Amino acid sequence: MSTAYWEDIMARLDRKVTHTIDQMGTKCPHFAGEDGKFDDIGSDWWTTGFWPGILWIMNDMTGKDYYKEAAWHWDGILEEWFIKPTEELHHDVGFQFLPTAVIKNTLTGDADGFRRGIEAANFLAARYNPVGRYIRAWNNGPDGKPVPGWVIIDCMLNISLLFWASKVTGDPRYKHMAIRHAETTMAYGIREDGSTKHILSFDAETGAYIENFGGQGLSPESSWSRGTAWGLYGFVNTYRHTEDERFLHTAKRIAHYFIAALPEDHVPYWDFRLESEAGMSRDTSAAAIAASALLDLADFVPAGEKRLYAGAAERILRSLTENYATWDQPEHEAILLHATGSGTSFIDVSLIYGDYYYVEAISKLNGWKHRIF
Ligand code: GLY
Repeated sequence: MSTAYWEDIMARLDRKVTHTIDQMGTKCPHFAGEDGKFDDIGSDWWTTGFWPGILWIMNDMTGKDYYKEAAWHWDGILEEWFIKPTEELHHDVGFQFLPTAVIKNTLTGDADGFRRGIEAANFLAARYNPVGRYIRAWNNGPDGKPVPGWVIIDCMLNISLLFWASKVTGDPRYKHMAIRHAETTMAYGIREDGSTKHILSFDAETGAYIENFGGQGLSPESSWSRGTAWGLYGFVNTYRHTEDERFLHTAKRIAHYFIAALPEDHVPYWDFRLESEAGMSRDTSAAAIAASALLDLADFVPAGEKRLYAGAAERILRSLTENYATWDQPEHEAILLHATGSGTSFIDVSLIYGDYYYVEAISKLNGWKHRIF
């Protein structure tokens, strides 16, 4: 794809997001259905960071102040959860504070963004289990009971908060926890063929591995496509922060599996191991996350290998742009259609995190150099 092609998509994003700001108002968006309106799920939900994250990236890409003005207050809203007498926050503070507090501090030097980012990193570090060498995922399982031994593949993105905290404070403890967590995920969560598991269960007392669950994928043996994308992105990042070849190798292994498992139009179904794809929904969010990760992976490999990863990313993004976007529906608040939360919920909708990673990836193709996750 030519540079002009990606510049044109960036310009379309600028028009689309500008138009959407007023429609979004103060909403905390998660999903949009057929009516094209995002819900307002509440600021404790794990997706709160993504709309402000889109605004911050658009501010950085265009220099337009109205994006910054609309994004500015979000890390303050999130911070309130630290003093509420509830247990709403968990390992997803990474998804919440990286595209709000951390990006705000990175782009503007704002001291509140810095303080809130560190506050979130301390919270995440406190979830580290030193015997099992992992970051605890959620507080409770689907039955409402505490799950101190659960680790999920998505957390590979949340640990970016720990790498950031070590970088900006000079204290290596955060980074060491992140590396141990990545090693544990690599040992138990990534199969030989590069596919990934969603939920890993450990004995929180002894640290012993017990079993894995299908989680948002089809089954324990299946291959949830967004989980694969989280794993890919997380190991690319872990390599970026550590330069440890084991993590690069793991990222490549997941990338090869993801690319090989894609259907003809390069946008995955919600699980890579469905018995039949007939009637099954796609997950454009998995596609966008993986594309953004593949662009970074291409930066870490020798010249002869770059096309493998950058080419796959561009094919995915072109398909999303031409087959799955809402360009011809100006009042639709989302950018991408046909995303899927899991096999049982939020099926064939728009998901705000799909939009975030699409914006991020298109920005990378237009020269965006900051890395938040
Ligand atoms: N972090 C949850 C998900 O990917 O749906």
